[in-house]
Amino acid sequence: MSNSLFRTKKIANILAEGSDDPHGGGGLKRVLTVRDLTFFGIAAILGAGSFSSLGYAVFNGGPGVVVLFVITGIACAFTALCYSEFASRIPVAGSAYTYAYASFGELFAWVIGWALIMEYSIGNIYVAYSWSDYFTSFLDKLGQIMHMNLHIPAYFSTSYMEAKHAIEGGSTNTEVLAAWNNAPVVGGLRMILDIPALVINFLITYLVYRGIKESRNFSNVMVILKIAVVALIIIVGGYLVFSNGLTANWTPPNDEGTRSFMPNGFSGVMLAVASVFFAYIGFDAVSVLAEESKNPQRDLPRGMILSLVICTIIYILLTLVLTGAVNYRNFDGVGDPLAFIFEPQNLNIGWMQFLVAVVAVVAMTSVLLVFQMGQPRIWMSMSRDGLMPPLFQKIHPKYKTPSFATIITGLVVGVPILFTDKTFVLDFTSIATLFAFVLVCGGVLLIPRKEKIGGRFHLPYINAQIIFPLIVLGAIIMAYALSKTYFTDMLNFDFSADADYVSGKKTFMDMATPNISLIVFWISALLLAVVAFIKKYSLIPLMGVITCMYLLTGMSKSNWVWFIAWLVLGIIIYFLYGYKKSKLAPKPV
Ligand code: ALA
Repeated sequence: MSNSLFRTKKIANILAEGSDDPHGGGGLKRVLTVRDLTFFGIAAILGAGSFSSLGYAVFNGGPGVVVLFVITGIACAFTALCYSEFASRIPVAGSAYTYAYASFGELFAWVIGWALIMEYSIGNIYVAYSWSDYFTSFLDKLGQIMHMNLHIPAYFSTSYMEAKHAIEGGSTNTEVLAAWNNAPVVGGLRMILDIPALVINFLITYLVYRGIKESRNFSNVMVILKIAVVALIIIVGGYLVFSNGLTANWTPPNDEGTRSFMPNGFSGVMLAVASVFFAYIGFDAVSVLAEESKNPQRDLPRGMILSLVICTIIYILLTLVLTGAVNYRNFDGVGDPLAFIFEPQNLNIGWMQFLVAVVAVVAMTSVLLVFQMGQPRIWMSMSRDGLMPPLFQKIHPKYKTPSFATIITGLVVGVPILFTDKTFVLDFTSIATLFAFVLVCGGVLLIPRKEKIGGRFHLPYINAQIIFPLIVLGAIIMAYALSKTYFTDMLNFDFSADADYVSGKKTFMDMATPNISLIVFWISALLLAVVAFIKKYSLIPLMGVITCMYLLTGMSKSNWVWFIAWLVLGIIIYFLYGYKKSKLAPKPV
């Protein structure tokens, strides 16, 4: 026992508590196979990111967003390998939280657990909002077909904050403006709330509460359906891009009239980081199912990596189809890009529009389901360690699910639906998840190497002593070769030539955040190169750390401000509760 903030849990102890026996000593049922886990991965990954925020990404970056999908896919693949290494050593439900406990120690473990609330619960708020968007448009289309009025008024399918920000920001989005202008007013307050988002959250919480097997069956069917339709979009859309001679859209002209795959440059592409990264979030959720898998040490890594590879291929093809079918500029404010490309002014296929709306609802339901299952399982692990109250590990006697934690998850997703908006939750989720990924990859560097055991995943050790410093050097040369002013721009904090800065629209910190992030990134890369050289670190986790850190440089000032505030709050709670109640805290004598 230790009083240290960095007290670590022994892996042997975690396994003993966390049900490494074939019956799942934690009380959960072991029913999942590698196919189920892959399906779970795809269920979690393919959702609001591709069906909704992809429009925003493409509008900012143009066809060049494909490059960001590749970079992010690579960063996630490194991270998935690190998750796999941990999952094969520590096959219990807590995911990154448990891994950090074994490597960095308690304080970091708590911080990761705290950050993962952003990924799982707050991420689900974004998905619930997007679900609601597609569900309402699906009802509208169904109403047209059946000659019935199934329209849900905008004020009952929009979040209050979205409508408020639209009015304040002078938006031209007629739907959101209608929500504000037509909403009933009770006691001076406009009644604007996203009822479909609240209802789907309630239904999903109920399903998860009822049990893993029911959830699994539901989710497998949904995954097959969404893959089939996404494949259809790619085939039909791709065919029309070529047959209608639209391939010039892949090199659209920028403001100066020069045609380019990246019309807004690489900085335009980087504006899409939060949306693109959000599209990938979910492969890690597979790891929380360790205690419900038949053979977690072999199957979790396979499930995670397979689902990631499949989704990366899908994203690259989808982005190419989207940006080929329609000029990237037309995606301004488009929240349903996959249906949009089939609208009359674009590829003009009515039945595809309807099909996409139906399947988007299905796709996002499966994302909601997986994340809503993940959160209670992380809390359950934290509660086992004494960092959360004991109620969070309570298993329902009949359904064998973490019942109390599931209900609290439902509330943590449901209540903020009333007072947040899409952009806020998207940014918040992405930054916190990237942060957790950096720590997971870093954690692998700290655990001792192990012998290869047959039938289990084993992260190959590639000595990074020479290779990693060479990669950093290569990156510096490449950055300079691509733009001679790259490093001088990074160090330039004189923004007096920027119109937004001069007019007061942007503050000094708004302008300076990208520079500061990049400076921190390059200093970290150099330091890591030195440490890798001295300690002969393993290449794959190092690449995971550095690629995820690079993606963090795309985050804006407001993302950082909110995220740091969230971390500080978490640390205060830890000192008030977990530090004293931890199972590793010294017992009073
Ligand atoms: N990757 C998940 C989605 O796009 C979170 O919905």
